[in-house]
Amino acid sequence: MAHRIHSSWLTLFSMMAFAFINLCSGAPNPHQREMLKRQEASRQTGGSVTLTPRELQLSAYLHKLKVKEMASVPFPPSMHYFKARPFIQQSAIFKLLRKMPKGAALHVHSSVLASAEWLVRNVTYRPHCYICFAWGGSVRFLFSDGQPYPRWECLYWQLLESLRAGMANPDEFDNSLVRNLTLFTEDPEAAYPSQESVWARFDDAFLAISGLVTYAPVFRDYLYQSLEEFYGDNVMYLEIRSGLSKTYELDGSIHDKVWSLKAYQDVSAKFSAEHPDFLGIRIILSSHRIQSVSMIKAAVMDAIEMQKNFPELIAGFDLVGREDDGRPLWYFREALSLPADLGVNLPYYFHAGETDLEGTDVDANLLDALLFNSSRIGHGYALPHHPLVKELSRKKGVAVEVCPISNQVLKLVSDMRNHPAAVLMTEGHPVVISSDDPTLFGTSGLSYDFYEAFVGIGGLSANLGTLKELAMNSIKYSSLSPVLKKALLDMWQKKWDKFISDQCQ
Ligand SMILES: *[C@@H]1O[C@H](CO)[C@@H](O)[C@H](O)[C@H]1NC(C)=O
Ligand SMILES: *[C@@H]1O[C@H](CO)[C@@H](O)[C@H](O)[C@H]1NC(C)=O
Ligand SMILES: *[C@@H]1O[C@H](CO)[C@@H](O)[C@H](O)[C@H]1NC(C)=O
Ligand SMILES: [Zn+2]
Repeated sequence: MAHRIHSSWLTLFSMMAFAFINLCSGAPNPHQREMLKRQEASRQTGGSVTLTPRELQLSAYLHKLKVKEMASVPFPPSMHYFKARPFIQQSAIFKLLRKMPKGAALHVHSSVLASAEWLVRNVTYRPHCYICFAWGGSVRFLFSDGQPYPRWECLYWQLLESLRAGMANPDEFDNSLVRNLTLFTEDPEAAYPSQESVWARFDDAFLAISGLVTYAPVFRDYLYQSLEEFYGDNVMYLEIRSGLSKTYELDGSIHDKVWSLKAYQDVSAKFSAEHPDFLGIRIILSSHRIQSVSMIKAAVMDAIEMQKNFPELIAGFDLVGREDDGRPLWYFREALSLPADLGVNLPYYFHAGETDLEGTDVDANLLDALLFNSSRIGHGYALPHHPLVKELSRKKGVAVEVCPISNQVLKLVSDMRNHPAAVLMTEGHPVVISSDDPTLFGTSGLSYDFYEAFVGIGGLSANLGTLKELAMNSIKYSSLSPVLKKALLDMWQKKWDKFISDQCQ
């Protein structure tokens, strides 16, 4: 803080000097100009990170690559990610980002972590997997030891194994199943003319996936596979938002939420034991914002109870689902005040400001998130509309979880260079980068979103210091205890140092 006050006095002083020099000579003083540029650059994310000589060398190399990439046609961050993906995969910057230790993924949802390819080519090939073709051309899955009963939208279930056996081209069929589990399409502008249409497909894909991943034996494998994919992308820790959907067995019997929590705990412990440079996961319990006050009250009480029984695993509570369609935080004020009223601490990690509608009730979510002491803000896309809230979030150290590709696919922004996080990053607002729903968007881990943030949102000014601060932010603003934060930071630093020396050979 002291440093900031100091630098704003310096700015004022240099402006006065500037005016004086201007009076005397006519031309702006190039030294003053350099100084102002440096001062401005020092405010951005990573602007005050000191880099070692080797890091400076890598930063200069990245700068060169970026200049080249920005001049190329097409420039991937200016395009829809679905069209940009093949170009991003070719990018030398992207290849580096894949290898870079990125710290933690702090904004991801539990049923959309692993690749759709894996879900189709592995999970749907397991025995007893039934499929049904629902209204509107979408699909549902169910594992069952006998012919499943008809349901409202699924009158006829077919055993996938028999269905595939009678097919001339099961591979093509599998591709269509992959398309059902993602939003990916060649022509996203035509397929999704509005936010409503893309959210409808979003909800539908969630339903299609849920029959696969909530089958209890698959759930564990799925979780392990998800961690594998994030770990493969050099992510060391995840905070996963989960509604704790109940899992089921072949005979239709249902496990309770505690079963799911134990599964999270076991799989995370197993994975960390097998990968000592992976710290683990924590869960942010989440409820859908379409629910009633009494349901959210029950969910909050449930969360308090689960936090008491699983203190290492449970990080806090959130409300999920499209904000524009759901109820605003203020509507739930009675439910959300329960922990404070009861004198217990249930940290909040609210989605807020994932909207481009200004001045609506939902648009007040950003302010309300802070009034309810949210520890971070999910998306915060609308933050530049709210200067006071922005100031508060900075003062309180409430980081914004920026998910660039999610915002683009869900039609808040088209050209990443116009993403509002550009403002946050130039001001050095506390931000972290995350990927929200990798299965649905066809991303993997965090690297694609880091690419958009680094090349598109950050522009030429973003450098290796920016990347370093973004990775360190993901640890600093995590829900971990100070001791675990320190442990994770040390683990990360080791990997980072190795990453730097590997690049500089
Ligand atoms: C889902 O799969 C079905 C069956 O192959 C296919 O007819 C339909 O077009 C797919 N839906 C999408 C959105 O690709
Ligand atoms: C599916 O994944 C599991 C691990 O989760 C693995 O053991 C199995 O061999 C895979 N099966 C197929 C068909 O790929
Ligand atoms: C938020 O934090 C402040 C200061 O610690 C406290 O007074 C207030 O009760 C908290 N509000 C809620 C809703 O938890
Ligand atoms: Zn989200």
